[in-house]
Amino acid sequence: MAVVEVTSTRRRFQDRVAIVTGAGSGIGAATAMVFASEGAKVCVVDRVASSAEMITRQIEGAGGTARSVVADVARSEDVRGVVNTAVDAWGRIDILHNNAGITAIGSVETLAEEEWDQVIAVNLKSIFLCSKFAIPIMRGQGGGTIINTASVNGIRPAANRDAYSASKGAVINLTKAMALGLAKDGIRVNCICPGTTDTQLVRGVAERLFSDFETAKRVFIEKEPIGRIAEPAEIAEAVAYLASDVAGFVTGSALVIDGGMMLA
Ligand SMILES: NC(=O)c1ccc[n+]([C@@H]2O[C@H](COP(=O)([O-])OP(=O)(O)OC[C@H]3O[C@@H](n4cnc5c(N)ncnc54)[C@H](O)[C@@H]3O)[C@@H](O)[C@H]2O)c1
Repeated sequence: MAVVEVTSTRRRFQDRVAIVTGAGSGIGAATAMVFASEGAKVCVVDRVASSAEMITRQIEGAGGTARSVVADVARSEDVRGVVNTAVDAWGRIDILHNNAGITAIGSVETLAEEEWDQVIAVNLKSIFLCSKFAIPIMRGQGGGTIINTASVNGIRPAANRDAYSASKGAVINLTKAMALGLAKDGIRVNCICPGTTDTQLVRGVAERLFSDFETAKRVFIEKEPIGRIAEPAEIAEAVAYLASDVAGFVTGSALVIDGGMMLA
């Protein structure tokens, strides 16, 4: 993964405090890097310590400010710890990117009950928990912004990904409900709906369903009018837009970044 560029001339997030969950890899890592490269202090949250620490070191090595927090975002005690860490270190929370997510291959018939519970807990309950503890801080300081990672599968479900599709559909509607409830508090809430993006999550699915990633990639690309899949940095730029002040009138939106996949 590329080292973060702190030479960016833009400083959209100067002195802001951002929490990014699932920031040890993929889309979350790329988002943490964009925030840090433009001046934010970033709480790099992941359940895998080595991943969170690696991204934190990359940010710090490039002159940015970050802190890694090991947490399972589906557990309320862990999430309390994340919020406390950010507030103790930097006194506020301006941006919350609820991004950690997992998938499980299977239908209602074939998924084990534990797999269903786990997907719903990590992809959906985590947003409830992280937001629950961060919102009072944001309200107390006069505002903030929350960006949830949904998926194109929250709009158009994927076959044999029943729990994943259900969780992402719920993320979109939860985003809208939160946006309505928090608008008067100066807290904007939006979500992103990425299409296929080159991350560990997608590579894991590819390895299970296809012989190798290159074969899978050819199948993914066939569904993409743009003729390729996304890089995590391209998704991170959409998150950065929603988190930035120029998106001040944007709340309750579900921003699709999919290379045209939903049109095909
Ligand atoms: N890659 C895609 O094509 C794609 C498309 C649409 C949406 N998404 C969504 O983007 C988000 C990020 O996924 P990614 O593709 O970057 O995957 P990834 O596997 O590269 O990164 C996910 C990170 O979340 C962490 N994580 C998982 N469960 C956690 C938990 N309980 N607590 C804390 N951290 C946890 C993992 O350790 C990992 O570092 C997910 O919500 C995913 O559903 C991905």
